[in-house]
Amino acid sequence: MDILKTIRERRSIRSFKKHEVDHDILEQIFTYGSFAPTHYMKESWRIKMYQEDGKKFFIDAVMASYQRIGMVKDNNEPKTLQMIKSMKEFLMNIPHHAVIYFEREEDPIRYEEEYASVSAFIQNCQLAAWEYGVGMLWTITPYMHDAEFLRDIGLDGERMKIVGVLQIGYPEVISRNKGRTPIDEKLEIIKS
Ligand SMILES: Cc1cc2nc3c(=O)[nH]c(=O)nc-3n(C[C@H](O)[C@H](O)[C@H](O)COP(=O)(O)O)c2cc1C
Repeated sequence: MDILKTIRERRSIRSFKKHEVDHDILEQIFTYGSFAPTHYMKESWRIKMYQEDGKKFFIDAVMASYQRIGMVKDNNEPKTLQMIKSMKEFLMNIPHHAVIYFEREEDPIRYEEEYASVSAFIQNCQLAAWEYGVGMLWTITPYMHDAEFLRDIGLDGERMKIVGVLQIGYPEVISRNKGRTPIDEKLEIIKS
């Protein structure tokens, strides 16, 4: 294992093979994720994993939210129904959807600490997954801010914050490495 190589080579995956990732491997991935830094050792990350038949429930909640917030029309016109069908199929073909969330902190500094820590957890998961040949896409979408969506999946939006939804599976297509801007362009060293 070469962590530096993994950091450089990991790619966001947007096209997955259909078969699922074994539970043991997913458990390993999330275990590595949980070695993320966590202030006061709060380990705030929580995961709701939707797979197999569980995906249907999740995807119905997603589509209902898209309609509520106007991303998808809410009518029975053939064009709308076709669009909903295609979106559902697309989402159903992704083997796992993991909602990553934490309990909100009232204090804004504590809130940022937890948000940052859960983000580090997600990136650790992405890197660990890559080591197992598993791909992920970290997504942030408008339904994460729809209180009714949270209620539909059993979360109280007043108390819980979703940091991201991870699409997970074995990569079908790995996109090219777009590289990164030389860090010199972003790095300012102040010596005196
Ligand atoms: C917080 C966050 C949210 C993201 N949301 C999306 C998303 O909703 N859809 C998507 O296609 N990619 C999403 N991405 C992935 C980025 O597009 C991706 O990291 C970027 O294109 C660089 O590609 P790479 O991860 O393969 O290096 C997200 C990344 C982050 C960090």
